[in-house]
Amino acid sequence: MVFQEGERLHLGAEAEVWSGDWMGRAAVRKQRRPRAWRHPDLDHRLGHRRMMSEARLMVRMHRAGLPVPALFDLDVEAGIMVMERMPGRPLIEVLRDASMDEEFIQKALESTGSAIRNVHRLAITHGDLSTNNVLVDKKGNATLIDFGLAVIDYEVERFGIDLHVIDEILGASHPDITDAIHHLINGYEAEEQRQGAPIDQTGGAVPTATEVLKRLENVRTRVRYHG
Ligand SMILES: Nc1ncnc2c1ncn2[C@@H]1O[C@H](COP(=O)(O)OP(=O)(O)O)[C@@H](O)[C@H]1O
Ligand SMILES: [Mg+2]
Repeated sequence: MVFQEGERLHLGAEAEVWSGDWMGRAAVRKQRRPRAWRHPDLDHRLGHRRMMSEARLMVRMHRAGLPVPALFDLDVEAGIMVMERMPGRPLIEVLRDASMDEEFIQKALESTGSAIRNVHRLAITHGDLSTNNVLVDKKGNATLIDFGLAVIDYEVERFGIDLHVIDEILGASHPDITDAIHHLINGYEAEEQRQGAPIDQTGGAVPTATEVLKRLENVRTRVRYHG
């Protein structure tokens, strides 16, 4: 594989991520890590399936023109994926950085909402919307990464859960940034306003932004009573 290592960006339980160079292009290599506590065969099958699915959905979104990393190379057997390196730094860092002004933070959160809506409009739910999985560039434009748990779905529930996950994280990890979720929701709604009703995908009609936001309210209520 023609990847030249630069520096290690991340060593997580599931994956090791390196930045580097692929055929002269800024790239990252994501290497799946075996989970010691799982049976090796099962681990291999699960990891295999997840990486295939992640790659397939990334290609689908990239082709639809979304700002997600382009897939450069894939070796599912070895558990390796090489993709375009996206500019920017994780939203979690931006929100923790005291030198960031309010205007920039608002823009980053609106842009995050808009990026999520664009993924949802393709009938794809992310499945792991943490502030680590959103990258924000210098202008405050957000892109989503890490689609290992993403799926295609047409039921509104999973879309509502996607927003609920990031809502909970913003509330718990960044309580000082009041209105964070409101800015994100504004961006989510504004994207639908800009583009009009979502186009039907191969499996049918995609839930509208209004339907998803209503479901978010519903999920919040359920969590308050049973959480
Ligand atoms: N395409 C990319 N461009 C730039 N940075 C990336 C890219 N993919 C991953 N990273 C960096 O590596 C980290 C871990 O990657 P991620 O795909 O989220 O792995 P994990 O499944 O272990 O969370 C990200 O939070 C981000 O900082
Ligand atoms: Mg991640």
